[in-house]
Amino acid sequence: MSRLAINKRIASIPPSVTLGVTSKAKAMIAAGETVYSFAAGEPDFDTPEHIKVAAVQALTDGQTKYAPVTGLPALRSVISNKLKAENGLDYAPEQVVVSCGAKHSLFNIIMALCDEGEEVIVPTPYWLSYTEMIRVSGASPVLVRAKQENDFKMTPEEFEAAITPNTKAIIFNSPSNPIGIVYTRSEIEKIVEVALRHGVYIIADEIYEKLLYDGAEHVSPGSLSAEAQEMVITVNGFSKAYSMTGWRLGYFAGPQKLVKAVTALQGHSTSSPTTFAQYGAVAALEGPQDCLKEMGIAFAERRNYIYNRVSAIDGVTCVKPGGAFYVLPDISSFGLDSVSFAEQLLAAEGVAVVPGAPFGVDSNVRLSYACSMENIEKGLDGLESFIKNL
Ligand SMILES: Cc1ncc(COP(=O)(O)O)c(C=O)c1O
Repeated sequence: MSRLAINKRIASIPPSVTLGVTSKAKAMIAAGETVYSFAAGEPDFDTPEHIKVAAVQALTDGQTKYAPVTGLPALRSVISNKLKAENGLDYAPEQVVVSCGAKHSLFNIIMALCDEGEEVIVPTPYWLSYTEMIRVSGASPVLVRAKQENDFKMTPEEFEAAITPNTKAIIFNSPSNPIGIVYTRSEIEKIVEVALRHGVYIIADEIYEKLLYDGAEHVSPGSLSAEAQEMVITVNGFSKAYSMTGWRLGYFAGPQKLVKAVTALQGHSTSSPTTFAQYGAVAALEGPQDCLKEMGIAFAERRNYIYNRVSAIDGVTCVKPGGAFYVLPDISSFGLDSVSFAEQLLAAEGVAVVPGAPFGVDSNVRLSYACSMENIEKGLDGLESFIKNL
């Protein structure tokens, strides 16, 4: 038996279930099986051409060396402009740090901000990486279970009731993964008011801000007032909006002291995000934005189709997503926990969904509609047939 002892905090981290289901489905496909996958949280579109051209040009021009730790000055500057023009946020370029994906930004923020004995509030259902990052930092996640009858939105009262003297921050994700809920301006105002009154930092994960339906408005919590902006750390990236998941580029903007701490941490871990990729990111923000509209139209069509079909299945209830690209139907009436449901569905019909358990809701499963209409249609045929035979 190996005597290798793994760091205790790291040893307790389970592997990512979403990545696990995705690779299981891919392995089945590689083995020649037909699989309809609703697992992956990445757009099926290619990165728009002008963004790829900019990165290729950077490579051709010899942009193959380390970049500054916090990102290329040109990229930090266009991010600062974007946050001002689109989000009403007033961050100087020096308050922006570019990292290897929004996931990496969140990891850096949580490591730099949170300490042993502190608590971070996580509205539940939540994106499964938040809780693991918090645990690695030594802090504890405090789950606030939002009610399905409230469309899975955390109320200000539920938030306030979870605050203790040890509360350091809340992670606020709108539009959200895994449900696609979008908080309204007045709901966000109330949540920010509670956070400010108690001195709780808001880590605002805005990675899905461009994926909104039915005219919904994206509101950045930090834009509500100067006081709010001081307590908000805004996280965003390129993966979901510009179909750049494999580029691994994300960023945050926040207080100078946090920027300094994250710069030190990143300087000793990844150094900088990939240099030539950052030129593509500059083109993404500076270039034409029609690609967002085209992808948005396709996602809206899929959202309507998948929501209508899933919610029409006998025994299934489903909150209508207002953003992102997920639905989270409640399958508890079939007497299976979410892992058994997902495993049996994959084995019986070759349909891959992600169990809700690691998102904090064992009564639900997550279907991503970041996949083709054909995949959605055939996959839903499989889901209906599986449920009929239960
Ligand atoms: C809620 C949420 N935040 C952040 C991320 C990370 O995005 P990336 O690291 O690709 O920028 C994801 C990806 O699935 C997500 O769902």
